Amino acid sequence: MSVSSYEEKPYATFALQEAELRRLAAMARLHGVDVASPEKCSVLEIGCGTGMNLLPLAERYPESRFVGFDLSGAHIREAQLAASQCHLSNVTLSQDDIGGFSCEPGTFDYVICHGVFSWISPKLQEKLLALCARALAPNGVAFMSYNVLPGWRQRGVLRDVLQTGALAKGRGSSPDEQLEAGMEFLQLVASARSNENDAYGRYLSEGMARLSESHSSYVFHEYLEAFNEPVLFSHFVERAGEQGLQWMCEAKALMMSSDDLGPKVAKYLEGLEGDILAREQCLDVLRNRPFRESLLCHNANALQRDLKAGVFKALEFSTDYREQMTLPNSIVFKEIVSGRAVETPADDHARLLKVLSREHDGQMAFAEMCERAKAEIAANDERAIVGLLLTLWKSGFVHCAVPAMREERVSGERPQCSRVAQFQAVSEGVVTSLRHRSHDLSHQERMCVQLADGTRSVEQIEGEVARVSDEVMAKAALRRVRELGFFTS
Ligand SMILES: C[S@@+](CC[C@H](N)C(=O)[O-])C[C@H]1O[C@@H](n2cnc3c(N)ncnc32)[C@H](O)[C@@H]1O
Repeated sequence: MSVSSYEEKPYATFALQEAELRRLAAMARLHGVDVASPEKCSVLEIGCGTGMNLLPLAERYPESRFVGFDLSGAHIREAQLAASQCHLSNVTLSQDDIGGFSCEPGTFDYVICHGVFSWISPKLQEKLLALCARALAPNGVAFMSYNVLPGWRQRGVLRDVLQTGALAKGRGSSPDEQLEAGMEFLQLVASARSNENDAYGRYLSEGMARLSESHSSYVFHEYLEAFNEPVLFSHFVERAGEQGLQWMCEAKALMMSSDDLGPKVAKYLEGLEGDILAREQCLDVLRNRPFRESLLCHNANALQRDLKAGVFKALEFSTDYREQMTLPNSIVFKEIVSGRAVETPADDHARLLKVLSREHDGQMAFAEMCERAKAEIAANDERAIVGLLLTLWKSGFVHCAVPAMREERVSGERPQCSRVAQFQAVSEGVVTSLRHRSHDLSHQERMCVQLADGTRSVEQIEGEVARVSDEVMAKAALRRVRELGFFTS
């Protein structure tokens, strides 16, 4: 990966919902790793880009310590500016190289490294894994994402096409010129193949449509960087193991599920006799998966592979789905970000999701959920609810997190957004909610975020936004910002 490309074409860093510390802690505890509480811990982000994953965490957990570094001076300067404007005194950001970064061994409870491993040379990859192992506390958890085979092999064809076009443009050209030349060439090849009703032509047209909708910094760094080496999951695990790290699980439970793949696959996977790594490798092939977000820990941790109901019940639960309509035999839910509607049979799973989806502002403890579910669910003993929740969690409808040690909400009268969100809302990029998720917001929604600083009532915010648009739009903007989880109240 060439450094100058990030200086010339900075990367747009997003918050990673699955790397929110309370979620990472939940995954670790479910696997028997007693990681430090997010409220009192230390976090290292390697290749932190412009800091927009690390800084919202630093604001949320003021008594924890956050360290981020990146090779790109442009990224680090942007991150430092944001940290100082948001008055974050618990973050240290530096321009550093993976090969040269030094820290006290075993001092970080959480290590996050997103979008770096596959885009550096194999030699530097070894150093990255070694740094993770060295930096991580004995009970720590590391989040690492990387491109995997076989799914990325197919995308590699698009990379070949873009690189051919960029190369023809000449070596001295800027990232934007290379990208333009690459995309033009892709278009040329796709249209040259459009009459051939073949898989290659269809694949190129679909790929072109997908890339045209993606952020240009992502397309450039994913498809035109010098390195982008997808690996077999089993090979990644082996290399991590050599550095003293083992695979714990994927950050999203959904990624480990095979429930939708049918009985033949279930039978085949059962035959692997508890070899979870072989099972995971097979899942990559079955799903043609291109990308993984894995959690790692030290080899010395004895991992708990059978879920303990007691640990699960001690977590808190949330969902990004809201009930839209209840029909005689089904319930329609809406995913709050994409707006996608999902209709499910009105069984106990759907009814439990409905209970949880009414908790708009945050997490629900297990005991509270059982209490609220009493009136809705036929089989409402604790055991049954654990079973329902587990299915919802494994299918991606429910998220788990360790409970907050102290109450996070304040009175609902005067909504307040995070300082980082207010900082982001002023510029054009994405804005991060308190659920640690980045969103493209409309002009009116950005205004709501800027105005929600804890000094104005809901009516005052709506009034000010209505002055530059209209009342209906102002109300809709405020409702959406609240629904996406931007307000502490
Ligand atoms: C694809 S970007 C991902 C950035 C960020 N983690 C995110 O998700 O937005 C890769 C990042 O790795 C950084 N990087 C590349 N090589 C590095 C190295 N040797 N040491 C430190 N950072 C490096 C780049 O500067 C860039 O910010």
